[in-house]
Amino acid sequence: MPTVLITGANRGLGRGFAERFGEAGWRVIATCRDPESAGLGGEVHALDVTSDSSVQSLASALQGEPIDLLLNNAGIYGPRDYGFGSIDYDAWAEVVAVDALAPVRVAEALSENVAASDRKLMVFISSMMGSIAQTGSGDSIIYRSAKACLNASVNVLANGLKSRGIACVLFHPGWVRTDMGGPSAAIDITTSVRGMVNVIDRLTLEDSGRFINYDGFDIPW
Ligand SMILES: NC(=O)c1ccc[n+]([C@@H]2O[C@H](COP(=O)([O-])OP(=O)(O)OC[C@H]3O[C@@H](n4cnc5c(N)ncnc54)[C@H](OP(=O)(O)O)[C@@H]3O)[C@@H](O)[C@H]2O)c1
Repeated sequence: MPTVLITGANRGLGRGFAERFGEAGWRVIATCRDPESAGLGGEVHALDVTSDSSVQSLASALQGEPIDLLLNNAGIYGPRDYGFGSIDYDAWAEVVAVDALAPVRVAEALSENVAASDRKLMVFISSMMGSIAQTGSGDSIIYRSAKACLNASVNVLANGLKSRGIACVLFHPGWVRTDMGGPSAAIDITTSVRGMVNVIDRLTLEDSGRFINYDGFDIPW
């Protein structure tokens, strides 16, 4: 039975992933900031992805346990009502900490677990908004730049971890009806998660370094 570890598994896409992999017979290690209020069944660990001590505690608890798929999903959008002239730099730093630095921190802490597994996959939920090639917009500098930082970091990780047989892949989940995506978003959680899991099921080391839409098409960097 393969094992998946998911960050931010208490709601939104993370919860959708936990349910989907559970139905498919995977061992699901769900993580979230507040397991007490999450209402998740099964194996749940506390994890604040921005806290070094929280990440290290999880890594200690899971020492020696193979993780086939590390799913770095947790993320925040940050402020929405601002523009050039009213940028909140503390908020920008927080979004970079959650969306760009934390996924690498978690990957670093759990890399031995992934290396010890059969599938050896690290998946990072990014956003098309982090694509420099596709950004023709002058808004949302905070979220866009944080996801672009994640994309650049995962590109480096993909090259660095290939020799250990670990594949690192980025996904755009689509514009999804979650708390972050809002009620007007284009697709529901089931459609997004089903699409990404179909792609994940077929990933090999050859795919490492790809930036993929939820439906399997590559996204320009
Ligand atoms: N929805 C979309 O349209 C869309 C589009 C592109 C990309 N994405 C990306 O998809 C991923 C999931 O987003 P979503 O739409 O499911 O958002 P969501 O419904 O707002 O859920 C965000 C999740 O991240 C968790 N999280 C935030 N900060 C955390 C931290 N410091 N430590 C641990 N967990 C933390 C939240 O936990 P709490 O409940 O504790 O806050 C929650 O579980 C994100 O990376 C997002 O950027 C979403």
